[in-house]
Amino acid sequence: MASDDVFSEKLRVPEALTFDDVLLRPKESRVEPDDADMRTRVSTNVTLSVPVLSAAMDTVTEAELAVEMARQGGMGVLHRNMSVEETAEGVEEVKRADELIIRDVVTASPEQTVREVDRMMEREGVSGAPVVDEDDAVLGIISGTDIRPYLEVGEYDAVREAMTDEVITASEDVTPRAALELMYEHRIERVPIVDDENRLTGLVTMAGVLARREYDDAARDDDGALVVGVAVGPFETDRARAADEAGADVVFIDCAHAHNLDVIDSAREIEAEIDADVVVGNVGTAEAAEAVVGFADGIKVGIGPGSICTTRIVSGAGMPQITAVAEVADVADRHGVPVIADGGIRYSGDAIKAIAAGADAVMLGSYFAGTDEAPGRIVTMNGKRYKQYRGMGSVGAMNDGGGDRYLKDEAEDEEFVPEGVEAATPYKGPLSSELHQLVGGMQSGMGYVGAETIPEFKERSEFVRVSSAGQTESHAHDVVITDEAPNYSPDN
Ligand code: XMP
Repeated sequence: MASDDVFSEKLRVPEALTFDDVLLRPKESRVEPDDADMRTRVSTNVTLSVPVLSAAMDTVTEAELAVEMARQGGMGVLHRNMSVEETAEGVEEVKRADELIIRDVVTASPEQTVREVDRMMEREGVSGAPVVDEDDAVLGIISGTDIRPYLEVGEYDAVREAMTDEVITASEDVTPRAALELMYEHRIERVPIVDDENRLTGLVTMAGVLARREYDDAARDDDGALVVGVAVGPFETDRARAADEAGADVVFIDCAHAHNLDVIDSAREIEAEIDADVVVGNVGTAEAAEAVVGFADGIKVGIGPGSICTTRIVSGAGMPQITAVAEVADVADRHGVPVIADGGIRYSGDAIKAIAAGADAVMLGSYFAGTDEAPGRIVTMNGKRYKQYRGMGSVGAMNDGGGDRYLKDEAEDEEFVPEGVEAATPYKGPLSSELHQLVGGMQSGMGYVGAETIPEFKERSEFVRVSSAGQTESHAHDVVITDEAPNYSPDN
């Protein structure tokens, strides 16, 4: 029988490829990896310094990890196994971190006693406070050093007596550099921000300015706050609204099969109602992309590639990820809508292959679940340290909410049919070094292809197909690894 003969037309099927099936064809280059510019658009209106997102999973992204992701130039997407109020608080926590102008300022009134203010500052964890009248006009500033250890003022003296009344203030448009110069010049640690009528609108502190300086490439919104994404269930309009009001930059419609028409109707309604960008996912085919590209600000791709996913095994449905990304990107590119490749990325090489296939950014779960900033504690098994990592479609995660990701009802008395497993992943230390390895490897890929920017790389990169012998050759082979590399483990 000739090789393309088939017993039934049903078996005349296209082939779909994933990460290990392909490699980037090396090309002439003058690009040093460190010079590769990793900036990318993750949705219509949001740009990141590095094309990486952390997964919306309850063992991966809460506010702590989202803050660190944005400081390092990427974006965290808060999971949704929490109340709507907690989602809003999570967004606010990320937005407040590193803010230049603190809005929630602890203030003192001139009539309070020194003792009261001292206690208040201790309780609030601040070392100084602007003194304001009932109209918020700034009268002075009081700091721990003014009043402790009560050498020149009595405990029961009024703040008015103890405060510094020649206050150095600045206006809303103060830059970090100008604020720092003011602080050095006047040997002060905080500058109240005031409006035209000297009313307090915020506060800039030395610690705040210095903290921001550490993160030059942080991903920030127009106000300078860190960016953050939020996952919402396909029908969770209330969570989408709350996230939007709290200042989320991107809302992710979080569904295992976004080509479900009810999900698309709901996603469209949510998109029309909120200001934040709306990324719709997950999809894995060109037809699904066509169905959402008209209203989505971004499209997220991945039907079953994830490390903890059993969707393809349980349901028999899925799309190998390189093919899925390429199909969706063909459609999305024509409309200028960014694509995110979600799941299945084990190495930096996989991440840059996803970009070559057409993604603008990648989303990872297992890669970040073992970091210090991920929720959950470290456990030791057989002398090795691990952190918990579980699929959002695992029994444990579905019991904690979010079964609607798999379009399943949360029936108390019914057993869930899971599409994910509960697992452990090696403990990895700080997120910053993991992300550094990931992005550094991606930049190497850009160097081999000779592309300086992500759009140029998408254009210029070509794949070659790899045989199974080629795959074996790609990994470390015929040796016993004696020292662990920070970016490679044969067990991945
Ligand atoms: P990685 O491979 O980075 O994948 O760990 C993370 C992505 O996997 C998806 N996800 C699931 N898919 N069952 C699934 O089929 C699950 O239980 C599950 N939990 C998460 C999700 O897209 C995530 O970003």
